[in-house]
Amino acid sequence: MNMKTLVQRFVAVLGILAVLGIVGISVTPAAQAQQINPTAQSVTEESLFEALQDDQMVEGRVSIPDGLSSGLIKPGNPSWASTHTGLVRNLSIAAVVGAIVVLTLFYMIRGKIMVDGKMSGIRILRFTAIERFAHWLMAGSFIILALTGLNLVVGRTMILPWLGEGAFSTITIWGKIAHNYVGWAFMLGLTLSFLVWVAHNIPNKVDAEWVAQGGGLLKKGVHPPARKFNAGQKVIFWLTTLGGAALSFTGFMLLFPIVAGTQADWQFYQLIHGIVAAGLSFVIIAHIYIGSIGMEGAFDAMGTGEVDLNWAKEHHSLWVEEVQGKAKSGDSSARGTQPAE
Ligand code: HEM
Repeated sequence: MNMKTLVQRFVAVLGILAVLGIVGISVTPAAQAQQINPTAQSVTEESLFEALQDDQMVEGRVSIPDGLSSGLIKPGNPSWASTHTGLVRNLSIAAVVGAIVVLTLFYMIRGKIMVDGKMSGIRILRFTAIERFAHWLMAGSFIILALTGLNLVVGRTMILPWLGEGAFSTITIWGKIAHNYVGWAFMLGLTLSFLVWVAHNIPNKVDAEWVAQGGGLLKKGVHPPARKFNAGQKVIFWLTTLGGAALSFTGFMLLFPIVAGTQADWQFYQLIHGIVAAGLSFVIIAHIYIGSIGMEGAFDAMGTGEVDLNWAKEHHSLWVEEVQGKAKSGDSSARGTQPAE
């Protein structure tokens, strides 16, 4: 091989290497984009999300016992957060707006439910001080929790724009603190209400008759018999008890995430907490309507504790017979239930 051939071959090899080099240069950046290293190069959050799968995580290192706090970015989080700002938010709005629409229609069609006969002027004890204390502890705390919870879900989009950042952040910070602490008062009120009323809320044959007659809610002058609580109230009682228990359990887990388990568990508890809160709010708005402006004479039961005898006869006829029978026979459990003129 002469010198010229040798030089030609050397140049050819260099050419091939150069071509490979060019290919290499054009391929490498695309491949590197798939392997982002946050500590070695400056990256945007978006490119990290794009590069990772939902179940992957960008992790750092921590020396504290809570290893989960080393998670920096987890693409699963934004997709979970979107259920909170999507599903839970929509359900909450639907519950409040839906209840207002349904009750407005009910009011327009049926009107306020009045006592058909005149008020007798005779008062009968319906709820003792302990029952009223349990009810108002549960009711007052529930209303605070519902309003502060609703603010966490819809506040940023619906309240912030007209309240402004300063005022909104103040009420949201205090609302969050209130939500964390008032939850305990709700649990106490719920437990007390359950204990004082559970015996009166066991379903029985009388309830079937009440349901068959639409509870007398749909037609004027219809008064199906009922004991202390009618079938509709029993439904409210059990929804409050079971929904309240679910809210208490999931709320407890969210307050103490270290007890709750993994990140997936917290997300599950938060989702259930939001869905149950929306559902129970719908029921309770309807309850508040009937217990106040929707029915003549109803509020007194939880206000002073005493109701008019004719109101009681129309809405809870069997209960009136029961307590009057007990009062006549001198049963001490009926103390205070006899008419006080
Ligand atoms: C301003 C709000 C509220 C008012 C005016 C109100 C009114 C009433 C009244 C008048 C009663 C007795 C009905 C009767 O004599 O038969 C009652 C019962 C009851 N309340 Fe409330 N309430 C309110 C809020 C709440 C809340 C927030 C809850 C639950 C978280 C609740 C749960 C119950 C339960 C379980 C009963 C017994 C079952 C029933 O009557 O439906 N209440 N309420």
